[in-house]
Amino acid sequence: MPDRPIIEIRELTKRYKGADEPAINSISLDINKNEIFGLLGPNGAGKTTTISILCGLFPPTKGSVTINGLDIHADIRKIKQIIGVVPQDIALYPTLTARENLTFFGNMYGLRGKVLKNKIDDYLTEFGLERHAGKMVARFSGGMKRRVNLIAGLLHDPKVIFLDEPTVGIDVQSRLEILNYLKLINKKGTTIIYTSHYMEEAENLCSRVAIIDRGSIISLGNPKELVAEHPEFKNLENIFIHLTGKELRD
Ligand SMILES: Nc1ncnc2c1ncn2[C@@H]1O[C@H](COP(=O)(O)OP(=O)(O)OP(=O)(O)O)[C@@H](O)[C@H]1O
Ligand SMILES: [Mg+2]
Repeated sequence: MPDRPIIEIRELTKRYKGADEPAINSISLDINKNEIFGLLGPNGAGKTTTISILCGLFPPTKGSVTINGLDIHADIRKIKQIIGVVPQDIALYPTLTARENLTFFGNMYGLRGKVLKNKIDDYLTEFGLERHAGKMVARFSGGMKRRVNLIAGLLHDPKVIFLDEPTVGIDVQSRLEILNYLKLINKKGTTIIYTSHYMEEAENLCSRVAIIDRGSIISLGNPKELVAEHPEFKNLENIFIHLTGKELRD
């Protein structure tokens, strides 16, 4: 029997207070163990809203989610132990050092003492930040902040990691570093759900993508197969523009 999907999303709807239209409208989706799944869509499509609900940040207006067989509403405490979150907006304390920030996040996940210190050291080295451990994050470049933000979500070795635009606004070197690391932890068994505006990146990285627009899924599948089904568009970016149009969203 095939494994049960690690994430099951059923008819998920979120209507923010005072909004005319729902931000996401009856989204249903299965994500399988060990996928790198890309959530793609124009600005305001509903990507962050979807990820926020999956992480238990706020409840949906309607619908249900299970992660690893656990219900997001009833079992959120257990779910939080197995998921990692890397938010779109950098969530670090600017006046603390990189090490202090990471110690804070590690403590939140119940990590302490030498185990935590060694983990932080390993990650800082992995991401080329060991010389900057004692510097205030406020002084970091955008790429350095993104890398610390990423480490904060990985410290507790989550089974499932949600990354909201982890490669936005950084140089090619930082981006490659982050993508290679995501591939590595995926090979070791971590399921990855990530959002991006970089279609070429998603085409190369993802086992499947969902293109969402105005709160609904309008295309779903393996990116290479999607391109093969529409040879006239040549790449995922052209398919994306074909499906979502050229009109600005916000
Ligand atoms: N806290 C909020 N209150 C009211 N409306 C919101 C709130 N957050 C998001 N929205 C609206 O919900 C819709 C979806 O927003 P969301 O942030 O999920 O989009 P997104 O796909 O992540 O966009 P982006 O690519 O710009 O990050 C948008 O119309 C947005 O204006
Ligand atoms: Mg967003």
